[in-house]
Amino acid sequence: MAKASRDNKTSVTEFILLGFGDLPELQTLLFLLFLVIYIVTMAGNILIIVLVVTDQHLHTPMYYFLGNLSCLETCCSSTILPSMLASFSTETTEMSFTGCFMQLYVFASLTGVECYLLSVMSYDRYLTICKPLHYEARMNGRFCLQLAVGSWLSGFLASSIIISLASELIFCGPNKIDHFFCDFTPIVKLSCSNTCLVTLLDIVLSSVFTLPPFLLTLTSYVCIITTILRIPSTARRQKAFSTCSSHIIVVTVFYGTLMIVYMLPNTKRLRDLHKFFSLSYTVFTPMINPLIYSLRNKEVKEALRKGMWKCMSHT
Ligand SMILES: *[C@@H]1O[C@H](CO)[C@@H](O)[C@H](O)[C@H]1NC(C)=O
Repeated sequence: MAKASRDNKTSVTEFILLGFGDLPELQTLLFLLFLVIYIVTMAGNILIIVLVVTDQHLHTPMYYFLGNLSCLETCCSSTILPSMLASFSTETTEMSFTGCFMQLYVFASLTGVECYLLSVMSYDRYLTICKPLHYEARMNGRFCLQLAVGSWLSGFLASSIIISLASELIFCGPNKIDHFFCDFTPIVKLSCSNTCLVTLLDIVLSSVFTLPPFLLTLTSYVCIITTILRIPSTARRQKAFSTCSSHIIVVTVFYGTLMIVYMLPNTKRLRDLHKFFSLSYTVFTPMINPLIYSLRNKEVKEALRKGMWKCMSHT
């Protein structure tokens, strides 16, 4: 019954993403910019995955999680950027109903996974710096694997519930989305059914699923920083700080932009600001993460140098 009435009423079979159509004179420039970003993101992250998998010195929990994070960033930019690049040749992009919800589902899941992975990484840093004597016992191979698998499962589980509900909504037009990808709020706004329940559930579920990892991350870094500040020797304090400052930058940028996007009211006047901050966490963060980790990290640089040396002596 519900199914039949839904098929009758749903008249929208595709969504139209307006993207950056309001900047016609910049289309070529933006296309080139995002193409370069996509290439750099893929190259940087795939390089980190290869290094983590092949180099024996990087077979530690911290680098396994970093490898997982790079894997996630690769997938993340591949769900957003290709369709965005295609839109520059046509000014707008048509996305089928299913395609749009697939993009939304994958992107929402990966954002969830990122919350969990970042908190796992912060817990790992916490153990290293605040509980070094217990590190080996707690962060063993099995636990490490459980944490990684748990992160991926929780992220996908949380968004499965909410996206499957959202896909039951009825859309009777208009179907234009003033955004560069199918994000939750703009899609729900287009629906002509009652969206109270979905919106409420979205708030409840995203709090239930993202607040614990967020609080865990925050607590870990507060403990880490207080521990570091109590180290008497300046040299040791600096060394301890350098191992986790890159993590703190990544976490701050991720949560900072996410909060701005979802807490800023999505009004017409703020639409451009919304697009800008969405760009920041969908497009720029995946590109910068590998740079932040590898340029600031001696072990990654060492692994890279050895890897290149090996490649060159082979040819
Ligand atoms: C992800 O984490 C798991 C568990 O620690 C590890 O076995 C796996 O190699 C990691 N994946 C990558 C691509 O680094």
